[in-house]
Amino acid sequence: MAAGASRCIALLFLLALAGTSSAQLSTSFYSSSCPGVYSAVKSVVKSAIAKEKRMGASILRLFFHDCFVQGCDASLLLDDTSSFQGEKMATPNNGSVRGFEVIDAIKTTVEKACPGIVSCADILAIAARDSVVILGGPNWNVKVGRRDSTTASFSGANNKIPPPTSGLANLTSLFAAQGLSQKDMVALSGAHTIGLARCTNFRAHVYNDTNINSSFAKTRQSGCPKTSGSGDNNLAPLDLQTPTVFENNYYKNLVSKKGLLHSDQELFNGGATDSQVQSYVSSQNAFFADFVTGMIKMGDISPLTGSNGQIRKNCRRVN
Ligand code: HEM
Repeated sequence: MAAGASRCIALLFLLALAGTSSAQLSTSFYSSSCPGVYSAVKSVVKSAIAKEKRMGASILRLFFHDCFVQGCDASLLLDDTSSFQGEKMATPNNGSVRGFEVIDAIKTTVEKACPGIVSCADILAIAARDSVVILGGPNWNVKVGRRDSTTASFSGANNKIPPPTSGLANLTSLFAAQGLSQKDMVALSGAHTIGLARCTNFRAHVYNDTNINSSFAKTRQSGCPKTSGSGDNNLAPLDLQTPTVFENNYYKNLVSKKGLLHSDQELFNGGATDSQVQSYVSSQNAFFADFVTGMIKMGDISPLTGSNGQIRKNCRRVN
């Protein structure tokens, strides 16, 4: 082959490689530009959880609600302004998602260590992992290299995040729309082994559904008035025993018909996912392994990389 032709092929190969690698995340992205990012994030998450244990759950949920709307790009963190509609006021988020102040505190700490290097989207991914670990769950290496969006999607937040009224088919298809399997969906739902939900989101399940343990239903009814509009924000734990410990109790609850949300109980209701729920009751290790796989896949949802997006200075607004 002529030298010119082989050089040309080598160049094409390099170009192709550059094209794909810019679209990929890696666990070593900050190893020379900001090696201190992991300890910086962890120290702030640790003190936030020490102050309020629920915060670990709230941070984990922020990552989920970010990734399901135009990918893991920190779009959820953008504040509304008079000329910008963000995602915070969308139905699944309004009066519900929390923890933004902790993300701000992490960003401030990380900016001191490495100004202009680490994206808010990566901070969310690392903080979600740290929250799981601190509350007793599995550890994993977080892929990083995401950049931050300059846009958000109010309608995406309303349409892509599953509501608690969802049936199994709807849950499955909303996850499939993100490239996540039904198996990933069941494993990721184990996040509901931590955190709290508002009466407005479990009222119909505890009053109207029949696939619920009756004494559990009564207990939850007592903290959640039947009439919509009263006590809407009263809180109950998603895992009735240990809402601040990350283990497999969530699945044990489902098998005894003590899921708090209608959507939770759908995962164990005589359908295709029953056997997976049973397997996590028998093996916490199996749950942890599949949860980690699911979190890594969720973290891979359409990231902005290379020269797309930006590294926000303040996670609440575009630069
Ligand atoms: C499968 C579909 C899902 C549905 C329908 C759903 C729905 C909900 C609802 C309605 C709440 C309570 C919100 C409130 O009352 O204010 C909640 C809380 C929560 N969700 Fe989900 N969720 C789902 C999947 C996930 C996933 C995949 C994760 C993370 C991997 C997650 C993590 C959490 C956490 C940790 C909380 C508690 C937050 C806190 O206490 O601040 N959820 N979810």
